[in-house]
Amino acid sequence: MNSCCSFLQSSIGKKLLVAITGVMLIAFVIGHLIGNLQFFAGPHVINEYGTKLRHLPFGGLWVIRIGLLAAVLLHIATTILLVIENRKAKGVGYVKKGSVQAKIATRLMALSGILLLSYIVFHLLHFTTHTVSPEFANWKDGEDHDVYRMIVAAFSNKAISIFYIVAMVLLAMHLSHGAASLFQTLGLRTKKMACCLGGCAQIFAWVICAGYVSIPVAVMAGFYEKKHISAASEPSCCAETPAPKPAAPAAKEAK
Ligand code: HEM
Repeated sequence: MNSCCSFLQSSIGKKLLVAITGVMLIAFVIGHLIGNLQFFAGPHVINEYGTKLRHLPFGGLWVIRIGLLAAVLLHIATTILLVIENRKAKGVGYVKKGSVQAKIATRLMALSGILLLSYIVFHLLHFTTHTVSPEFANWKDGEDHDVYRMIVAAFSNKAISIFYIVAMVLLAMHLSHGAASLFQTLGLRTKKMACCLGGCAQIFAWVICAGYVSIPVAVMAGFYEKKHISAASEPSCCAETPAPKPAAPAAKEAK
């Protein structure tokens, strides 16, 4: 136990912790994207998927949620500790030509990380707790929560769609640098492979970004099941009753 604590207090231990929590978050981002892409398979597929997630055995969803929260908090706290340690080790005012690029990358990582965290908080208030749009909570597709209608309603608002797209671009920037550093921390990056791994990290990050961005773009382009949305928007009291005919004009206006 003691040796484990002193390992985590060491610089390499902290780097390893950032890498492990990073892998957990990358796994979530991939899994969440695969789940979300079921949007293109139609309302019932994604709505059933949402219900299955919520009813995972042994409170599986809560295990995932708590695991994710722990990974996010550890990832952020350990990164902050590493930055403080690095600054102390180099001393204030230390300027080295070769490290300028690394400094910019670190600052970009910190900035994109903070912005992503703010995005995730908004995203949870929007789609999980429905605090931003409380009406989402009552939308049903049979027994399932109508996740499809919620996504269409959310992204029909252009400002929200653009906000999500910007967040996905930030995610790609954070992922591309993070995935490349991951190989270095795990000792998998040799000089020969550095370029290839950097390229793979870039491709991976931008493919993930394109996958997520495709959903708001599809909604804005009107590429969704309009029948499902109009049927769901009909007030349930009137769904069966035909709409009353408009009253005939009492008399034609004389010209
Ligand atoms: C177009 C992009 C995205 C869409 C359409 C989307 C959709 C959703 C939906 C529908 C839910 C709620 C599921 C439910 O409770 O029924 C959700 C939850 C969540 N999303 Fe996203 N998401 C997107 C991007 C992201 C990204 C990029 C991240 C992380 C970097 C993320 C992180 C989360 C988290 C942490 C939850 C909470 C999971 C839970 O506790 O249930 N999402 N998302």
